[in-house]
Amino acid sequence: MRTQVGIVGAGPAGLLLSHLLHLRGIDSVVLELRDRDHCERRVRAGVLEQGTVDLLNESGVGERMRREGLPHHGIELRYGGSAHRIPFEKLVPGRAITVYGQQEVVKDLIAARLAASGKIVFDVPDVALHDVTGSPRLTFGGETLECDVIAGCDGFHGVSRPSIPDGVISTFERDYPFAWLGVLARVPPSTEELVYARTPRGFALHSMRSPEVSRFYLQVPPDEPVGNWPDERIWAELGARLESVPGFALQSGPILEKSVTPMRSFVAEPMQYGRLYLAGDAAHIVPPTGAKGLNLAVADVRVLTAALEHWYATGSADLLDAYSASCLKRVWRAQHFSWWMTTLLHTFDHDDAYGERLQTSYLDYVTSSEAAATTLAENYVGMPW
Ligand code: APR
Ligand code: PHB
Repeated sequence: MRTQVGIVGAGPAGLLLSHLLHLRGIDSVVLELRDRDHCERRVRAGVLEQGTVDLLNESGVGERMRREGLPHHGIELRYGGSAHRIPFEKLVPGRAITVYGQQEVVKDLIAARLAASGKIVFDVPDVALHDVTGSPRLTFGGETLECDVIAGCDGFHGVSRPSIPDGVISTFERDYPFAWLGVLARVPPSTEELVYARTPRGFALHSMRSPEVSRFYLQVPPDEPVGNWPDERIWAELGARLESVPGFALQSGPILEKSVTPMRSFVAEPMQYGRLYLAGDAAHIVPPTGAKGLNLAVADVRVLTAALEHWYATGSADLLDAYSASCLKRVWRAQHFSWWMTTLLHTFDHDDAYGERLQTSYLDYVTSSEAAATTLAENYVGMPW
């Protein structure tokens, strides 16, 4: 088998890359470890930056997102017994976010690829990369796929990044002393906009998926077994953390899904080696506070598409050679923002009264100074490309 771009992984990065390349007449094959159902059901974050929304619309896969996605023009920060709105319409006019689950984006992209006879091979457990500095090849299930280039879009635990020899890549990391318990519930949201709550009991986030389905997160200890959280305990804790302002009452309902997500910051530099290009979680991870993961994956793929288009059209590898450097500027901005939102809103060591005062001071600043609030708002909706 032969293709122009061999893509490892059918998450948002791999699928969107395959779709954008197709629109430019460039052929690709996507090889995915899991089955289609698994990819379409995996519950992840659900906040799309303005640029992500625009790109999905421009590339013709935004129809259901426009119908079912929820545009939001602000978020709420809740701490110290009061609520503070960050108004995007005032601070970053014309830019907003859209709440639309990542697995819905994945479903739309898979449907678009299959409708255009795109090739996605699901359920391949043994993908391996070969000769990425010479004649790149992917092998799987006894088959060989020859390609001009390989896109490693296989997430943090994939095979692409580890197939780069030791010494080529430098990694930069931060661990956090907590995780998030994510909860999906069949209950109308108790809020119109997302609520990020800092409380002495730990962080809580009230998000949503539709007028009938809410999404919540609770700060929990790292490696917390999900079994420690029966439904009644989840509702009690969400109530204790979110019902911290007068007049707010949390509605409860049946819990559809719950899982624990570790929190980590990670960057691999450079994001390329020979003819292998890493994109999305394969190259970098952010903690989910601020929901940048999917949006960064989209930004990488946008840069890679333009570079590949240029290479095929002109033979010049200039943009491909600059791929990593072009992506890393945005990656590091999002790294900083995600680390900053995380540090601002979570409970760290209970004895760290100094750290707690610093958080309060910055929260007071960001909710009273237009300059500080604009910093949050422009990063949250996404810096322009
Ligand atoms: N071979 C083939 N596919 C693989 C392999 C492998 N060895 N290992 C992992 N994969 C697949 C995974 O099953 C998954 O479908 O690669 C895909 C990677 O997708 P994501 O993890 O969703 O990563 P990405 O496309 O970069 O999207 C980033 O995902 O993790 C979230 O929060 C993150 O929202 C962000 C987004
Ligand atoms: C979500 O809805 O899943 C979500 C929203 C905001 C975040 C993270 C996750 O910061």
